[in-house]
Amino acid sequence: MDIRIALKQAIAQLRDAHVPSYTLAAELLLLHTLGRDRTWLYAHPEQLLSQAEAQGFSALLARRAAGEPTQYLTGKQEFWGLEFEVTRDVLIPRPETEHVIEVALDRLAVREIRNGRKQTLTGEGLQIVDVGTGSGCIAIALAKELPAAMILATDISRGALEVAQRNAARHGVAHRVALLPVNLLAGHTGKYNLLVSNPPYIGRKEKETLMREVREHEPEVALYGGEEGYEIYADLIAQAVHCVKPGGLLVLELGHNSLPAVQPLLEPPHWTNVGVTNDLAGIPRVIAAERA
Ligand SMILES: C[S@@+](CC[C@H](N)C(=O)[O-])C[C@H]1O[C@@H](n2cnc3c(N)ncnc32)[C@H](O)[C@@H]1O
Repeated sequence: MDIRIALKQAIAQLRDAHVPSYTLAAELLLLHTLGRDRTWLYAHPEQLLSQAEAQGFSALLARRAAGEPTQYLTGKQEFWGLEFEVTRDVLIPRPETEHVIEVALDRLAVREIRNGRKQTLTGEGLQIVDVGTGSGCIAIALAKELPAAMILATDISRGALEVAQRNAARHGVAHRVALLPVNLLAGHTGKYNLLVSNPPYIGRKEKETLMREVREHEPEVALYGGEEGYEIYADLIAQAVHCVKPGGLLVLELGHNSLPAVQPLLEPPHWTNVGVTNDLAGIPRVIAAERA
């Protein structure tokens, strides 16, 4: 069978199985099977698949049709223009989490301007902590943007930290990203200029409403923040009071219904300058505050 026919049949198979973005999924799985890029694929539509390739592709399609996320099958996902390894130990990085990076960088830049310093941010002297780092996507994206910053990335899952470690090495920032297995920041006495986190924020009571790709395949510890979902923020913010330096920043991703529970936790005397950023769907997605 040639590539054009294999792809056409794969698209039909995934469409019939109600796979979201079925054309893209079929393409990505074929590229993964062949170890090629998209340009090569469309330049060689008549190329024949070997028997091993055809069997491998067919096995991946069956797993995708049964609900396994494409990223766990290919082992990768792009975030902030960087390719990250993903395994079943980590949440697949989401595009909306890029708003956390944008808000953090904007807030740091504004602080530099306010302090009369140059706007070229290198992160010199900055200590950053990413709580619940998962694949390491937030910590590593910030390490790439701020080449002089030092970053601590924590997670309660040792499996996740192993993936984050490999991603930090892959992107050449392992010497500036330290990894720590800990429950939030419990017992940790470090002081930081910036605390970022995309904590688990889905409510267990919402479990049945989730897509099967998420509900059946992504790690529960990365998804659920409690029965309602927003419970974890109270502990995280209480610990942040001790770990964020005066004048330092807190930037948190929010679940679709977290804002009413989280905003009241960021009030004086501990926090000022609170701002909320919506995602592209108009959902309040990131809350940022300054330690008073
Ligand atoms: C929503 S995922 C975010 C992963 C990654 N930062 C991202 O944005 O893709 C939440 C992460 O927090 C970790 N986590 C859950 N509960 C935790 C806790 N109590 N302390 C530390 N990490 C925790 C999970 O293992 C998971 O990696």
